[in-house]
Amino acid sequence: MASSEFQPLQGMSDIGVPEIWLWQMIEQRARTLFSCYNYEELRTPSLEKLSVFKRSIGDTTDVVQKEMYSFIDRGGRELALRPEGTAGTIRHLAGRGEEGLNARVFYIAPMFRCERPQAGRKRQFHQVGVEATGVPNPLADAECIALQQHLLEEWGLTGSKIQISTRGELSDRQPVADGLRNALQPHLSDLCSDCQRRINENVLRVIDCKNKNCGKIVDQIPSPVDFMSEESRQYLDTVIHTLKKMGIEVELNPKLVRGLDYYVHTVWEITHGALGAQNAIAGGGRYEIALGKKGVPGVGFAMGMERVITSLESCGVTADQFVPSDGIWLISLGEKALIENMKIARKLREKGLRCGMDLEVKSMKAQMRKANKARVKKVIICGEDEMAKGILLVKDMNEGSQEELSLEDVIRDA
Ligand code: HAM
Repeated sequence: MASSEFQPLQGMSDIGVPEIWLWQMIEQRARTLFSCYNYEELRTPSLEKLSVFKRSIGDTTDVVQKEMYSFIDRGGRELALRPEGTAGTIRHLAGRGEEGLNARVFYIAPMFRCERPQAGRKRQFHQVGVEATGVPNPLADAECIALQQHLLEEWGLTGSKIQISTRGELSDRQPVADGLRNALQPHLSDLCSDCQRRINENVLRVIDCKNKNCGKIVDQIPSPVDFMSEESRQYLDTVIHTLKKMGIEVELNPKLVRGLDYYVHTVWEITHGALGAQNAIAGGGRYEIALGKKGVPGVGFAMGMERVITSLESCGVTADQFVPSDGIWLISLGEKALIENMKIARKLREKGLRCGMDLEVKSMKAQMRKANKARVKKVIICGEDEMAKGILLVKDMNEGSQEELSLEDVIRDA
């Protein structure tokens, strides 16, 4: 075990070779797919005013109450590291006026939650997410889920499950809260102490509670959907029906409420069997985020990249499948060849080729070791003889074959 001097903070990780190759594949494929659906990238700051998160995510959620890294800076401002991407994205889009109210953006970024670290639960983790603003339309929700499903396919992930439900319209909130409170009243003394408080503060949190006893009680009472209007149920039916027509299977789970308060209508979560207790690889939903006098409607999702990677590995998709295997290593036999190789390397790099070399004269064996470590496809050997003949000795590392070529030939074949 390395000394703690070299370790990042608990719940945070350095990501380098070899796992970084898997991260790069995930990011590249996500960017390509998002552009097929007309999403544009948005990068918002990691640090925001605390109020950005409080007003969107909700004062009584676990994320705001227990998990946010918030502090007062030297200027006396209340700030927080973003625990998720939706609140900052909507803050930005609301500032873009009319255009921001009909936008499609994606982000790939680190998020911060001061939770107790455990398998699949980090304090700095990464999300790939999208947000699409615009008037509520069940087809937009279905398209968003379809995009997410498509992305999982592009990554090569199999065996995930989509659970779906609805939070209903804003006007459903009171009847749902009243209905659930009445149903829970006879069980009040059996609920955990957190839920005894939550029942008055934000009763939906009781439905979400991870305590086993609370779970058993929640199983016995009606679901939030049972207290919603016909219109809200119809909206969810349209989303599910559309997805079915598109060939996408979802499972209705009327007790899925999600841990963030901005949701209205459709909510969903994607789980994967390879994960333990923290089995959600993604969450999403339609929301209405109040900003000033206006409410900004939108729909989106976020996938937890660390959990996606664990799931991918369980499906046999691993980092070593994405090792960069092209590239050239230049071997210099003598001082003159070293300078000649500096010139050749510049030409190869101008052509966009990955190439490397030792910058001092070393034994052939030592230089070959470096070439192997750099996982290059070809090695070019340059010595006094080659320079005199105006050729290069090119060795194919996979086939073991060797041939004499001009620099132009090398560039053409690469
Ligand atoms: P969320 O469910 O809080 O939703 O997070 C989305 C995903 O981020 C989770 O399913 C999980 O994979 C990952 N995640 C969350 N917390 C952690 C953690 N501590 N360690 C590792 N991974 C974690 C949102 O964040 C919403 N903003 C999603 C959304 C976008 N809804 C609408 N638009």
